[in-house]
Amino acid sequence: MKIVITGGAGFIGSQLALNLQKENEILIIDKMRSGELLENGNLESFGHFKNLLEFDGSLFVGDIKDEKTFKKIRDFKPDIIFHEAAISDTTAYNQFKVLDTNLNTFEDFIKLSIELNAKLIYASSASVYGDMPSPQRVGFEEPKNPYAFSKFMMDKMAKKYYDKAHIVGLRYFNVYGKGEFYKNKTASMVVQFAHQILAGHKPRLFEGSDKIFRDFTYIKDVISANLAALDAKCGVYNVGSGKARTFQDIVDILQSELGTNLPCEYIPNPYVKAYQFHTEAKLDESFAYRPQFSLEEGIKDYLDEIKRLFEKEVNA
Ligand SMILES: NC(=O)c1ccc[n+]([C@@H]2O[C@H](COP(=O)([O-])OP(=O)(O)OC[C@H]3O[C@@H](n4cnc5c(N)ncnc54)[C@H](O)[C@@H]3O)[C@@H](O)[C@H]2O)c1
Repeated sequence: MKIVITGGAGFIGSQLALNLQKENEILIIDKMRSGELLENGNLESFGHFKNLLEFDGSLFVGDIKDEKTFKKIRDFKPDIIFHEAAISDTTAYNQFKVLDTNLNTFEDFIKLSIELNAKLIYASSASVYGDMPSPQRVGFEEPKNPYAFSKFMMDKMAKKYYDKAHIVGLRYFNVYGKGEFYKNKTASMVVQFAHQILAGHKPRLFEGSDKIFRDFTYIKDVISANLAALDAKCGVYNVGSGKARTFQDIVDILQSELGTNLPCEYIPNPYVKAYQFHTEAKLDESFAYRPQFSLEEGIKDYLDEIKRLFEKEVNA
């Protein structure tokens, strides 16, 4: 198969590419990181060459807002497009920037996949649910920030084209695992807490972290969800572990795996107004995705990579 992966130098896109490159011809589209910052001080794009050191396919460095990028994809003639490129920062508050990048480009991707007869699997997000009660299910959304709203609007747009192309949206719940390190402060708290602990520092949690529940989802499960989407009915599906766990659980599991017993430091949560306090995916039986990793199993599987990063990147 010929596969385009947008956002392929980022976390999820790079892991998809590395997993699929053996049997497929892959073209990655990514604008990579530059000095450009969002108003909140975070990078606007997180693509990093180090995510692609083992990548054997082609890389085109371009913006998904640029016609040249679309020409490149058109010439490549993919059978499948995995669309991961986005401003992925849930705390980005510049509504124009977030919607211009995430939403405005999306209809072009839909039209292109219709034209090329390519399957389009795109990244939606569990953020669309806001404070809706757990377990969250498709059809009951309440986005609380511009990022979540951009994904919500993408899902609505996709729906209009279900009769014309194979389009599947995947609502990832909090993803963690290999490839996320270069997302800096927007990487999962699994790697951030682990590196605090490895440095001998007290893990820093938001106050009340034993009552902030999230459905933490391991990257390997996210890859299998993307593969399941290739044969799924058009629609939007949750991709989670199906179990809500707390941020305190992450620290406790890490301390037990790393053999430490550091006291935690609790700090006020600056994002209270736009924060999700309880997420848990309601998994759709009709979608052939079955998560394999509990939080304990995912962290165990990830630990060698966490330690490697600590030695090579954090402590270097
Ligand atoms: N990681 C999670 O927990 C999570 C949860 C829900 C949804 N998602 C979604 O999944 C997708 C992948 O997320 P991720 O965690 O890998 O994020 P990421 O930031 O690591 O990856 C996104 C990639 O897109 C690239 N990009 C950004 N703007 C671009 C543009 N205008 N043109 C071309 N490339 C551009 C970035 O350089 C980056 O490499 C995103 O759409 C994100 O919103 C992620």
